[in-house]
Amino acid sequence: MAATQSIHTSTRGVEAPLMRGHWLWGNLKDVREDVLGFFLKAMAQDEAMLKASFLSINVHLLFDPDAIHHVFVKNAPNYYKGTRGYEKLRHLLGNGLVTSEGDFWRRQRRIAQPAFHKKRLEGFATTMAQAAEDMSLQWEESAKKGEELDLAQEMMRLTLRIAGETLFSTDISKASDDFGKYLSIGLEHFNHIASHPVPKVEYLPLPSNLRFWHALRKMKKMTWSLIQERRKRGEDRGDLLSMFMLARDEETGEQMSDQQLLDEAFTMLGAGHETTANALAWTLYLMTQNPDALEKVAQEADRVFGDRLPTMDDFKELTYTKRVIQESMRLFPPVWAIAKTAREDDVINGYHVSAGTHVYVCNYANHRNPRYWDNPEEFRPERFTPEALEEQKKRGRTNFMYMPFSQGQRKCIGDHFAMLEAVLIFSMLARKFQFQLKPGAVVKPETTVTLRPKDGIPATLRLR
Ligand code: HEM
Repeated sequence: MAATQSIHTSTRGVEAPLMRGHWLWGNLKDVREDVLGFFLKAMAQDEAMLKASFLSINVHLLFDPDAIHHVFVKNAPNYYKGTRGYEKLRHLLGNGLVTSEGDFWRRQRRIAQPAFHKKRLEGFATTMAQAAEDMSLQWEESAKKGEELDLAQEMMRLTLRIAGETLFSTDISKASDDFGKYLSIGLEHFNHIASHPVPKVEYLPLPSNLRFWHALRKMKKMTWSLIQERRKRGEDRGDLLSMFMLARDEETGEQMSDQQLLDEAFTMLGAGHETTANALAWTLYLMTQNPDALEKVAQEADRVFGDRLPTMDDFKELTYTKRVIQESMRLFPPVWAIAKTAREDDVINGYHVSAGTHVYVCNYANHRNPRYWDNPEEFRPERFTPEALEEQKKRGRTNFMYMPFSQGQRKCIGDHFAMLEAVLIFSMLARKFQFQLKPGAVVKPETTVTLRPKDGIPATLRLR
């Protein structure tokens, strides 16, 4: 595909309307103060596209489904992951599926794809349900004692255990506190440097940089030792790592080198647990505000699987539960913004985009666009019934106004995995527990690589 994919270049088109900003630093201050507020304010101008600038960097903000379709599908080869954010993410994750480009990415995606086929997910469903069951047994004790838990942290630990088991058939949950700690350091640092106005600041021997490099080394070492252990044993464990090790590119017959394995494994660990943990954390937070929806989820779980552990087949029946997760990801998309960079000049919706310009899609804002969503601030899982979605399509390419997993060729490879995991875990927890937010606690989003609940979700549990 690579060589034959053509880029449609065009230099015609008018300039997009400009976001008002400071003569020197443009919109940088607004973005640094409150990036979500900035995007919401920009969206309220009701333009398909706006031009903004962050110091000398020119960006286009996209608020229109056709414009987004153009970038993610129609002229996708013209857009690559070229922002400073991705450059930093490469430091964190290496050159794996999330950050690689071109033929190399295409080959890796081809090799990785079969690992996410339905047949394989069936086995993973058992692992997910068992891990949730183990956690909920511990939660029963906490509920009895009236202990306060941070639901966000709990979800992070649970999804990390599942990532470890499905990727490596290894329960890294014992080490996961450390791994989670290092990952937090990595992500926080990433967020800091990605938005830092001084380029290359990450190369200075500052204490924060040293802490980051130390955390990164530790995480890579943990991942590396998992790979080495498998190489020694040479067995097919049926997990993602075995898939990656055994897979050969059907076109060239090549296998992944150790470095590629490390980067892909590390990418899967990073991309696969933090996102799902946040989707679940926000869902549980929404349940503290919407106990009726929680009860409906619980009743669905009673009906579909009752006292036994849920399976892949049950997943298909948990339709209301799935809608709650979808609605949760509308309001709090774990990947809150996606950026791309134009290789060559282009025209989007009649507006000129110069080569090197970044284009931004802010899921957090677009998922709340009143043009496409009625009463967007309201929590309404019914938006995702097949009938409601059919009705919504009349408003245009609305699937580009709801893209928690992105769209086009770089869409999340783990979308089905993530939905399966989130739905199974959530339905099991809803069947057993009710959640009370700590009195006075205010839960606000924080924009790291993912959208996290700032200061967690402090809550107590009650047995249902
Ligand atoms: C609710 C959970 C998840 C959400 C919201 C999510 C979202 C996304 C998004 C928006 C992208 C595109 C990123 C970009 O363009 O830079 C992406 C890519 C990716 N995700 Fe996910 N993801 C989730 C779970 C997972 C899981 C469970 C896995 C693996 C087990 C995974 C692995 C990946 C990989 C490897 C890519 C890069 C794909 C490529 O470019 O070929 N994700 N994800």
